[in-house]
Amino acid sequence: MKKIIKNGTIVTAADTYKADILIENEKIALIGQDLTDPSAEVVDAEGNYIFPGGIDPHTHLEMPFGGTVSKDDFETGTIAAAHGGTTTVIDFCLTDKGKPLQNSIDQWHAKSKDKSVIDYSFHLMIGEMNDSVLEQLPSVIEDEGITSFKVFMAYKNVFQADDGTLFRTLEQAKKLGALVMVHAENGDVIEHLVNKALEAGQTDPIYHALTRPPEVEGEATGRAAELTGLADSQLYVVHVTCEEAVEAIAKARKKGYNVTGETCPQYLVLDQSYLEKPNFEGAKYVWSPPLREKHHQEVLWKALKTGDLQTLGSDQCSFDFKGQKDLGKGDFTKIPNGGPIIEDRVSILFSEGVKKGRISLNEFVDITSTKIAKTFGLFPQKGTISVGADADIVIFDPSVERTISVETSHMAADYNPFEGMKVTGQPVSVLSRGDFVIKNKEFVGKLGKGNYLKRSRYGELTSSKEELYQK
Ligand code: URP
Ligand code: ZN
Ligand code: ZN
Repeated sequence: MKKIIKNGTIVTAADTYKADILIENEKIALIGQDLTDPSAEVVDAEGNYIFPGGIDPHTHLEMPFGGTVSKDDFETGTIAAAHGGTTTVIDFCLTDKGKPLQNSIDQWHAKSKDKSVIDYSFHLMIGEMNDSVLEQLPSVIEDEGITSFKVFMAYKNVFQADDGTLFRTLEQAKKLGALVMVHAENGDVIEHLVNKALEAGQTDPIYHALTRPPEVEGEATGRAAELTGLADSQLYVVHVTCEEAVEAIAKARKKGYNVTGETCPQYLVLDQSYLEKPNFEGAKYVWSPPLREKHHQEVLWKALKTGDLQTLGSDQCSFDFKGQKDLGKGDFTKIPNGGPIIEDRVSILFSEGVKKGRISLNEFVDITSTKIAKTFGLFPQKGTISVGADADIVIFDPSVERTISVETSHMAADYNPFEGMKVTGQPVSVLSRGDFVIKNKEFVGKLGKGNYLKRSRYGELTSSKEELYQK
């Protein structure tokens, strides 16, 4: 059915203006003043902002990790995402060395297709590079539309790839039109520091942070950036947490390397002291890279403002405190790494960023949606409000004040790391391709309604690769 959203203030990465939006056949059909159509449902958005649906470029839904499986799957995870104003997620498809890449991709399709309530896509992990992987990559891009490859520089003996693999992945990405993403921490040095801590009987959650200091993130980020320059390729650094890593990215960008980066809400508002909470509660805040000392937060905010970091992901990878995080009681290395973040990503950036004057409203839209669509080959189908774009729309009340709590959140995990945090602003209604997924804060969507998105090659949809690389 057609819809007209009336009286709202449309905000894109470039403009803020009052206009009505006509939605027809899943798309934005018209934007203008005083639109009327007797056959359309009228949605009154007076007093609210109209944002393009948020895009979360970094999720791990129902992912086997740390001896267990992340709690939120494509059902609970995407419902929570929608409540939070996100209408597209890009999830990380893990791969197994020596096994066909397509097997892993098929597994990821199987667990998402009947569950996802919003549109979704996959990145593909590259754990090794050899003739067989080289042969498979073109079809990953052409048939699956997966145009971003993830290389882990940490998690030794689990996901970690060597530098040769990273370099060859960068070369292939350049050749094939894909983007390389890195988890940038020096896994070898971490392994050594972890062993020393355990030998010294240091087993509490705080040692997770102390054995992964900012220097190991800064070093790995700089190394990945240099290899990108050498390969004349393109790099996106996920979950940047600290000054050392921001400096490495800024230095590479100054040299003209195509290096971009993402941070996450948890690094903007929480700090390392949370890992010291008593009664093992610090385990709730164990993820990698770890939370940092408070002074890093302003560096991250500044980098979002100046454009040395471009995007905000959630790194959603949730585990219950009871029954999952407690696998690591007495040994911090056994605490599953990750947290429930997907629902609060957009609201935290709005409240802490826009409301506190750190970024503008248009920068907020760019960081949570538009730049992500451009970076990952989804623009302008996603990431903007313009005629012809998918009608993925968030009607957002900028004035409501509320307190984040596990009691009111929709994620499956038994705690919320932002518990008690006061935020201003909340999505009221959310549409995915023209249909309500959230209406007046209630879920009204359908399981399996989300479409799998094949993405364009890196840089193909924007006027130039330079546009992506620049802020
Ligand atoms: O601790 C985290 N971040 N868990 C998810 C996997 C990853 O490294 O992104
Ligand atoms: Zn990671
Ligand atoms: Zn992650």
